[in-house]
Amino acid sequence: MTSSTKRKVLITGGAGFIGSHLVRRMVNRYPEYEIFNLDALTYAGNLANLKDIESQPNYHFIRADINDFKQILELFKTHVFDGVIHLAAESHVDRSITDPLAFVHTNVLGTMHLLYAAKQVWGKNFEDKRFYQVSTDEVYGSLGDTGLFREDTPYDPRSPYSASKASADHFVRAYFHTYHMPVVLSNCSNNYGPYQFPEKLIPLVINNILHRRNLPVYGDGTNIRDWLWVEDHAEAIDEIFHRGITGETYNIGGNNEMQNIELVRLLCDITDRALGRPEGQSRELITFVKDRPGHDQRYAIDASKIKKDLGWEPRTVPEEGFGKTVEWYLKNESWLKAVTSGAYMKYYEKHYTS
Ligand code: NAD
Ligand code: DAU
Repeated sequence: MTSSTKRKVLITGGAGFIGSHLVRRMVNRYPEYEIFNLDALTYAGNLANLKDIESQPNYHFIRADINDFKQILELFKTHVFDGVIHLAAESHVDRSITDPLAFVHTNVLGTMHLLYAAKQVWGKNFEDKRFYQVSTDEVYGSLGDTGLFREDTPYDPRSPYSASKASADHFVRAYFHTYHMPVVLSNCSNNYGPYQFPEKLIPLVINNILHRRNLPVYGDGTNIRDWLWVEDHAEAIDEIFHRGITGETYNIGGNNEMQNIELVRLLCDITDRALGRPEGQSRELITFVKDRPGHDQRYAIDASKIKKDLGWEPRTVPEEGFGKTVEWYLKNESWLKAVTSGAYMKYYEKHYTS
């Protein structure tokens, strides 16, 4: 795709964490595009994440549920989108363990609805069309002490969340091979930054430090994740959407592997400094709790393909990224308060006390 002609780009899940950063980037960078943000506004979706761009003339919000095929097909017929960047999903592993069916509905069937509607409306004329599936490194399973996930690593999902994402990825590839739909996929590691819902480790820890609540670390805290600044992910998606080769998959990572316990201690220290609390005070809140069932031990990405083919690599170094993240949540306590009121505390109590 080129960026020189006016295009209608549908971004699903644009009111969520990564989606809101991507929508902001696309709206600001491509005034010649019409950007449609389709989101059901589940507990994880929040239009306050997009306040700064909501009145831009090339931005449109559509409240819709990808589980509602009739509505999705109508929208495709009305707007005839040129490109789809699909992020809408149930995204939290712990919730997938207690409510796996919701993940099958949204992540598998919802993705199928988008593919089915796109094909029906695009027909066989795929010229200048593109369907981009935003996926996760979790589909590759769990690593031991060594090794990296490559694009040709066999899928081995181990949680209902990763199984649902893997299934959706398979359907997307099936549409490429069977119908020649121009698709592209990416599998990314753990993102961090502003606007992440505080059920996820980093904002949960910062929010708990603020309230002097225990900091729950699953198991022995030695599990490893590779952390990527969310705006760097949005940049990678932009590059892949425009310059990725049809049918290809790109792994995206942060070159930043950390044990959970190491990360939580670092967040304690950065936050204590920012709040002027005595050094080491928040580390005392760290509490080892029962492990996540089927907890993947280690994720790590070989991101050499996207670097070689598209010239993308992470820009933000961890010291800068974690510092900016803590600073953002402390400055935006009202955002944290708003999203953690009501249903959040019920979820929190049920999850961490049962
Ligand atoms: P998120 O949970 O913050 O946001 C998901 C968004 O999707 C929300 O705005 C929600 O309202 C919307 N949504 C959920 N169900 C929907 C439905 N049925 N119809 C329409 N909208 C619906 O998720 P995120 O962390 O921003 O992740 C976005 C995507 O990126 C997901 O597909 C996820 O699998 C993938 N991903 C996330 C990470 C990460 O670290 N967060 C890493 C790699 C890949
Ligand atoms: O790898 C990409 C994936 O990263 C995305 O596909 C998912 O959508 C996203 O949620 C994330 O999954 P994780 O399970 O890795 O993220 P989470 O923030 O839930 O947990 C990070 C690590 O911290 C993980 O090893 C579990 C652990 N953890 C998490 C929570 C919420 C704790 O120790 N305590 C906690 O309270």
